[in-house]
Amino acid sequence: MTSASPNAADPRGLPEDLESAILELKHERNAVLLAHYYQESEVQDLADFVGDSLALAQAASRVDVDVIVFCGVHFMAETAKILNPDRTVVVPDLEAGCSLADGCPPNDLRAFVQQHPGAKLLSYINCSAEVKAMSDLICTSSNAVKMAREFDGEPLVFAPDRHLARWVGNQLGRDDLIVWPGACIVHEQFSAKRLAQLRVRHPEAEVLAHPECDQAVLDQADFIASTTGIIDRAVASPAKTLIIATEDGVFHQIEQRAPEKELIQAPGIDESCACNQCPFMRLNTLEKLFLCLRDLKPTVDVPEEIRVKALAPIERMLALSS
Ligand code: 13P
Ligand code: SF4
Repeated sequence: MTSASPNAADPRGLPEDLESAILELKHERNAVLLAHYYQESEVQDLADFVGDSLALAQAASRVDVDVIVFCGVHFMAETAKILNPDRTVVVPDLEAGCSLADGCPPNDLRAFVQQHPGAKLLSYINCSAEVKAMSDLICTSSNAVKMAREFDGEPLVFAPDRHLARWVGNQLGRDDLIVWPGACIVHEQFSAKRLAQLRVRHPEAEVLAHPECDQAVLDQADFIASTTGIIDRAVASPAKTLIIATEDGVFHQIEQRAPEKELIQAPGIDESCACNQCPFMRLNTLEKLFLCLRDLKPTVDVPEEIRVKALAPIERMLALSS
């Protein structure tokens, strides 16, 4: 039996050796598999490229294959499609959304921006194609401060993450950013009180946090950065114990690069749930990945009029980040 042979017991025709079948299909389809650090370890291990939001957008801008399989959330795949209108972009699960993108309806944001005549719009990449299309510039967590500097001295709306906006404002010494009040459900659930208690038990630990976290959590962080920044710091840090306030998918890369480190998840408000796993990111499974490569669906498509408008602020970000 070849690795791609269907398992007779499975009505969906899933093969027994999913990993090998996915790799075979990827080759047959002339596809590239891009994955975010918040994916399950087994998905990360099959990917051609694993990265943070900026690195994934940069990778998507350089592909020369027929098919992009995006293992991340919808806005990331949409960005890949905006950059690659003539390539097929598929995702394992179309329902993989994002609380930031979903909490910023384009018409509501348009009305919000119109309340501030003359203001420019800097949008975090965690937003819909329609929001990108009305933006002056896009940023990710790893380049947000640099992108905001483009608007020194100008009134600026920052959408849709209020925590990232506050952190950027603090870095720039700007208290005049006009902020859309969105938040990430994963990063907002970290408990500052329980983190303080944990730090007492591990005084030697270094605390690494993502800027989507609440200020009371960031106040306790030794290092604040995007997922790539957190992973690189965890590996390079002299500290043996690290408390990490971001989605725990990043642990996989750190464990591979620095297996000697002790990694501790920053505690959430609710002790009983695995809330530091993004419920949207984790919709992508190996089974759905196999099916989307086999059937080349669900595809991610963007109406051309919106795509063209959304491309300009993304390309501007990529040019400023190279
Ligand atoms: P980065 O990939 O920029 O670290 O952002 C994390 C995130 O929440 C993506 O949805
Ligand atoms: Fe969105 Fe938060 Fe999930 Fe990232 S971790 S995709 S910001 S909900």
